[in-house]
Amino acid sequence: MRRINMTRCDSRRNGSRIIMTKRVVTLAHYYTQPEIQQMADKVGDSLELSLFAREAEADTIVFAGVRFMAETAKILNPAATVILPDAGSTCSLVTQTDIVALKRWRDSHPDHVHVAYINSSAEHKALSDWIVTSRNVDDIIAHLIGEGKKVMFSPDRNMGAYLNYQYGYDMPLWSAVCEVHDKFNEAALNEALNAVPGASHLIAHPESPLPVLKQAEYVGSTSGMLNWVKQYEGNPKDVIFVATEDGILYNMGLARPDLDLRQAPIYAGCQCNSCPYMKMNTVEAVRRAQQGEGLVIDYLSPEAIEAARKPVERMLEFSRRYTL
Ligand code: 13P
Ligand code: SF4
Repeated sequence: MRRINMTRCDSRRNGSRIIMTKRVVTLAHYYTQPEIQQMADKVGDSLELSLFAREAEADTIVFAGVRFMAETAKILNPAATVILPDAGSTCSLVTQTDIVALKRWRDSHPDHVHVAYINSSAEHKALSDWIVTSRNVDDIIAHLIGEGKKVMFSPDRNMGAYLNYQYGYDMPLWSAVCEVHDKFNEAALNEALNAVPGASHLIAHPESPLPVLKQAEYVGSTSGMLNWVKQYEGNPKDVIFVATEDGILYNMGLARPDLDLRQAPIYAGCQCNSCPYMKMNTVEAVRRAQQGEGLVIDYLSPEAIEAARKPVERMLEFSRRYTL
């Protein structure tokens, strides 16, 4: 178990419940605002935060991210009280997925291994065989297909379409999208690329639409893109377009202030692609969560946690053995 910077608090009242928050650990995703990241003990991508939550020796985990992330923390560390600062912090990949329809779809492919992206509810995870994040999805699916398995992929249609295109798979895909990344637009991107007088580059998150991903020099998770920027050795005068949520531009700018980093354009021509759910993590909401207020992830039964934990643990075990 890893010991981390912990804040000692008193017992607090949350509605009718008293919550003991003796040791509070705050986690923040890269898409949260800089001031939230500065309040956190750990900032990272979905995989890093899941691993950290699993190992955290804490009474309370405040998860400045979105609900499926807080649920994953609870699934991996059921003894901890996990609090999401704002109950409205959902994700379109979750809200666009009807669980009854998903189960029908899953049942209609009995000979397939169901791989689900971590951006899914606990119920969704329980209907899958493997969970993946954008960091390990390529490796895990290549591993399964290498073993001769048939794979079906949910819920992100863009990510699945990219994997099918890139590796020549024919995975059946569920059809939900990230409402933020789905707005990146090929025509607007070409216009922006053409308007740059010198050289330019494009890096992208795999939740973006396929025509955009086809043009990217690098496709990967938030931390993958951050590492690409950190290790960039090309001309610092080149423009680097980044097709992902705007929060990560803060981390990229901190790491490489010498580079011309710009958000890739969306169809309306706006340069701001912000996740409304991540941005619900305001300073006040996170402070209140550190005092025990917010959405406490206490609604998952031990059976629901166990059913969702198996495919998540399979991923963590794979990551330990092959990639991390
Ligand atoms: P990462 O797994 O790359 O952190 O992405 C999570 C996410 O929600 C992207 O929109
Ligand atoms: Fe979900 Fe998209 Fe927001 Fe990520 S950026 S949490 S995928 S809505």
